[in-house]
Amino acid sequence: MDKLKVGILGSGRGSNFEAIAQSIDEGALNADIRVVISDVENSGILQLAHKWEIRAEFVNPGQFRTKMSVEAEARVIEILKEEGVDLVVLAGFMRIVGAQLLRAFPDRILNIHPSLLPKFPGLEAWRQALEAGETVTGCTVHYVDAIVDGGRIIAQEKVPILPGDTPESLHQRIQKAEHILYPKAISYFRSENL
Ligand code: GAR
Repeated sequence: MDKLKVGILGSGRGSNFEAIAQSIDEGALNADIRVVISDVENSGILQLAHKWEIRAEFVNPGQFRTKMSVEAEARVIEILKEEGVDLVVLAGFMRIVGAQLLRAFPDRILNIHPSLLPKFPGLEAWRQALEAGETVTGCTVHYVDAIVDGGRIIAQEKVPILPGDTPESLHQRIQKAEHILYPKAISYFRSENL
């Protein structure tokens, strides 16, 4: 059976990327990570991509803080197309996806978000859940569309909020759940689309 060709975009540590790479390595996910692209030059995710011997590309995002410039996004699309990517996976990518990229991969961009959407969209969702006094939060894999953190949900996992939790301890617990959920959701996408 065909491997799903995946392109990953991330800005941070890259733990979700590594969980996906490990899942492929163990034979649980029939996919091939063709490229990892980051808007942050010395990010952990690019270093990890080197370690896994996967093509790693820094794309200078341009002058805006929350989105990529039109030129930067065009370059990202060019790289993804060069690699024949079937699915774009956002793994801690901290910029809003623009119309160009959405048009280039319609219904083929996934994101993972650290809350039970539609609750707590936006930044530091784990902190938002803690400050709201919730006892349960979690993570969500969803399609990316023009509404930030608003696309169709593929999968969710609940995570308890425990007495004495700090934002950091809660985020760590959510990330453990993310590392199991994301490979499963990608595998589900593959079964529906290949
Ligand atoms: C993850 O917890 C992910 O849910 C979050 O960034 C972290 C990236 O960690 N994403 C968002 O908040 C997107 N709005 P990683 O670089 O270790 O995978």
